[in-house]
Amino acid sequence: MIVNRTHMDPDLESLAAECWRLLEAAPADRNSTFRTPVLASGAAEARTVVLRAADAASRTIAVFTDARSAKAGQLAAGSRACAVFYDPARGVQLRLWGEAALHHQDGVAQAYWGALPDFGKRPYQSMPGPGARRGKPGSGIPDVTDVDAGYPNFLVILVTVTRLEWLRLEQGGNISARFDWDGTGRLSASWIVP
Ligand SMILES: Cc1cc2nc3c(=O)[nH]c(=O)nc-3n(C[C@H](O)[C@H](O)[C@H](O)COP(=O)(O)O)c2cc1C
Repeated sequence: MIVNRTHMDPDLESLAAECWRLLEAAPADRNSTFRTPVLASGAAEARTVVLRAADAASRTIAVFTDARSAKAGQLAAGSRACAVFYDPARGVQLRLWGEAALHHQDGVAQAYWGALPDFGKRPYQSMPGPGARRGKPGSGIPDVTDVDAGYPNFLVILVTVTRLEWLRLEQGGNISARFDWDGTGRLSASWIVP
């Protein structure tokens, strides 16, 4: 992470690192509320997702979805996305904005697919795909023995974060900070009025 040291408040610098530490820890922590952010795409479309990975060095977060889902169409490559996280125990909200990259049947998708347990692969076999109408309640997952049958529907969304906003609820008055990374990865940061 490149930091603009001439203007950076050291508290802001450590706060940015702390934000990424929380994000990086969340994917492997089933009890973390940061593991299920709300991901917004397009004009006014949002839904809860599972945070699968976060990486401070590349400023990316990863989410899995079905390539046939509405969000896959809304998040065309290069489009803007926003993810919102809230941890009630810490009273901390993070809002992340960035550019989406879609990985379908490439090296990134293969690596994540290979690491998924069989039960995590099954939803991608649903027939027809997400959002299709059904006559009765059900997952649409057929009895298929090939665990990799759903791979053609597996999509990895990587969002490269260009702005991160941190907010902490405080009884004496909430506090907030904003972090922006430019095209070279240089960070500028400021406390903001929440
Ligand atoms: C706790 C929770 C976690 C979810 N995780 C995901 C996920 O990681 N990926 C996903 O595509 N949908 C996930 N969903 C379902 C989505 O919220 C949404 O209902 C579905 O993907 C259809 O969204 P779309 O029509 O906007 O594509 C999750 C829902 C909940 C409640």
